[in-house]
Amino acid sequence: MVSFVRRGERLTPSRQTAWDRLADPYVLDLPRGERDTLPADDAALDLEKVFGRRAELVVEVGSGLGENIVAAAAAHPERDHLGVEVYRPGLAQTLSRLDRLRPALPQNLRLLPLDAQRALPALLAPGSIQELWVFFPDPWPKSRHHKRRLINPPFLDAVLPLLAPGGTFRLATDWAQYAGHMREQLDAHEDLEPLHPDGPRPEGTTTDDVPPGLPVEGWAPRFAGRVKTSFESKGRAAGRLVWDLAYTRSAP
Ligand SMILES: C[S@@+](CC[C@H](N)C(=O)[O-])C[C@H]1O[C@@H](n2cnc3c(N)ncnc32)[C@H](O)[C@@H]1O
Repeated sequence: MVSFVRRGERLTPSRQTAWDRLADPYVLDLPRGERDTLPADDAALDLEKVFGRRAELVVEVGSGLGENIVAAAAAHPERDHLGVEVYRPGLAQTLSRLDRLRPALPQNLRLLPLDAQRALPALLAPGSIQELWVFFPDPWPKSRHHKRRLINPPFLDAVLPLLAPGGTFRLATDWAQYAGHMREQLDAHEDLEPLHPDGPRPEGTTTDDVPPGLPVEGWAPRFAGRVKTSFESKGRAAGRLVWDLAYTRSAP
């Protein structure tokens, strides 16, 4: 059971051009396992070698078209950034966005074209992530699809141990039902503490169903480092509220 569907992989001519120009070195081309989205058993990722230094690492799971991870890499040269995304046109669009930054191409960004849930624990050491971001993950609104949601125990068990003690886990969604589901999973997690226990829920009404018992406190203010993506714009245009969540990983 995976949290994504493979959609069309064909690239438009401009995305193909960006891919040809920048996939090397930005898209990490690791040996694949039994599926194209899985690393081979012997695949390894040496962050120090990849980035040529040791720095705090920000990982965005489902980096989509790259708005956030590219902006963050450009704004924070002191940190390294890894965007994890299985959608090849999204990766190509991220490269196209990078191409527009020439001649100041950031050296502190790489893209991992693999399933984050399976690849990150295989490739990264425990405690190696300083900030973990999941913004507007696919909501899988139908009940029979809820098990496909990224924010579920298999993903949390795989990825939270990689977050450094004191590190931050930031999330956002425009689906009230998914926001409630995230709160249930994350508030109860023994390794996480909310960063804004008194933070009020977003103001306003939403056009989607608000689940009964949705907490009125514990929501994060909009993260200043989160740029507005097309997914957020679509949600807002449809009259949905945006729910931000932020947690810190407690020391073991
Ligand atoms: C709705 S989009 C949001 C993209 C972006 N975060 C934004 O806010 O615009 C969710 C993205 O997560 C990706 N995704 C879902 N599950 C994933 C996984 N297990 N590993 C890597 N990417 C995944 C999908 O391919 C999709 O591009």
